[in-house]
Amino acid sequence: MIIESNKRMSQSLLWKLQKAAYLSFGPKAWSHCGVPFYLTSNPFTAKQYAHVVVGYLRDCLARQQIATSEPIYFFDLGAGTGRFAYLFLKELRPLLQVIGHSKLNFCYVMTDMVKSNLEFCSKHPQLNEFFNEGILDLAEYHHAQNETPLFLMHSKKNLSKESIRNPVILIANYFFDTIPQDLFKVEDGKLYEGRLTLEAEGEAKEPLDPALITSLRVQYEYSLIDDVEHYYSLPGLSSILQEYAARFQKAIFLFPIGAFQSLTYFSDLSQGRVMLIAGDQAVCTEEQIEHWGEPKIAKHASFSIAVNYHAIARYFNNKGGCGLLTSNPDPVFAVVAGVLGGENKDQSEVALAFRTHIDAFEPSDYLKVISDLEKQALKLETLLMLLKLGNWDPMNFYAFFEKIRKEIPQASPALKRDLQQAIHKTYANFYSISSEDGDFILNLGVLLFDLGLFADALTFFQRSLAIKGANPAALKNIEACKKKMLNDKC
Ligand SMILES: C[S@@+](CC[C@H](N)C(=O)[O-])C[C@H]1O[C@@H](n2cnc3c(N)ncnc32)[C@H](O)[C@@H]1O
Repeated sequence: MIIESNKRMSQSLLWKLQKAAYLSFGPKAWSHCGVPFYLTSNPFTAKQYAHVVVGYLRDCLARQQIATSEPIYFFDLGAGTGRFAYLFLKELRPLLQVIGHSKLNFCYVMTDMVKSNLEFCSKHPQLNEFFNEGILDLAEYHHAQNETPLFLMHSKKNLSKESIRNPVILIANYFFDTIPQDLFKVEDGKLYEGRLTLEAEGEAKEPLDPALITSLRVQYEYSLIDDVEHYYSLPGLSSILQEYAARFQKAIFLFPIGAFQSLTYFSDLSQGRVMLIAGDQAVCTEEQIEHWGEPKIAKHASFSIAVNYHAIARYFNNKGGCGLLTSNPDPVFAVVAGVLGGENKDQSEVALAFRTHIDAFEPSDYLKVISDLEKQALKLETLLMLLKLGNWDPMNFYAFFEKIRKEIPQASPALKRDLQQAIHKTYANFYSISSEDGDFILNLGVLLFDLGLFADALTFFQRSLAIKGANPAALKNIEACKKKMLNDKC
């Protein structure tokens, strides 16, 4: 059945269904519904982002752009389960110490429109220490609906233009690919607006039933735009459309209007001093724009659509700031950074950090290497190096579990010691989002057991029990540990 006809993309029912989906899933979006989050929320990516942010802070400190008595606010847009926030804060603190600013006054605000996500984060035991230190807070933020002030739920403060004295840092992971975008076609110098007709199968329980997403089919039509110059009322956007109309002979492209609305909101809050770092499926180069074609809608109970990062970088550059993209971006997952406020030449540290920490080896490179090596036989020494490369990434460890286990019997005492340390470092980066995560902890316990470290193994089996509840594997392993420990004593 046709559920909508001939609608401009950013005004389509699509986004209402998307909202309804996230509102109905809550944190189960990630534990049960299969919304992807691995690439944005692992210790490797968190470390890279922390370095880029520190680069930006160093630029601001060098220009005395920061009032050190006032907080620097970070806003994580669509923070979800808080896993990225946890990993990022763990990385940021030691880096601030290295640059001699361990006491820098900052507050990381996890934002989301879904109250149950914010509640999940507010109760997460691993975030407690950051809340208690006053460096973490929460705010309800509905894209394109929020008015200022923004209310901080933990410290019960209102944030407004008047109260924010420092530049703000925006983190937008898998956020711009979730919120509204527009669609255009350029042909022979003329620009056309993409219009959507949506069809879904079966009967919906209600008009905004998120179950419709699974069977959605979309048809596209294009209608000529007469006045491109005034298409968008937000400044700096129509000029990008004009550039595209002049640059491309024939192309169909998306325009991230939602991303620009978010940027404008936070830029208004901070008197135009913003740093953005974002990761999404994304189209980054002119060549990719020319060949991408109509939107590919990735469905995962909710949906996501690759974002035009090329336009986001243009926006920063056109406004006299700096937009940073990698040299060889893969649309599967790309990272963009941008700075507004200050001139391009003032952004040397952030640009250097972006080149060194992201461009040199991107999250998508990391994923490809790990996925490829998962299929091969590897020595324990190599496996330990891969764990180190991933910054002690629990998912990476989980993927290599069987291979690591197989290597233990023939490992030297030194390698066994390294493995024990790797287990503890990886556990420190583990952030539980569902009871299923107890299996990962159980696996770590199994390796410690194989290493003959029974007291250590017992602790991990008990942790697994605490997360997963009573389960035969953990209970059996706990008994085995106790027996071994008793034998050792005798
Ligand atoms: C794909 S998830 C990304 C979660 C997390 N940043 C990550 O990398 O895994 C999108 C997040 O944005 C939130 N969200 C979706 N639409 C939103 C909107 N219109 N305004 C604010 N948040 C929204 C969702 O609740 C969800 O937490």
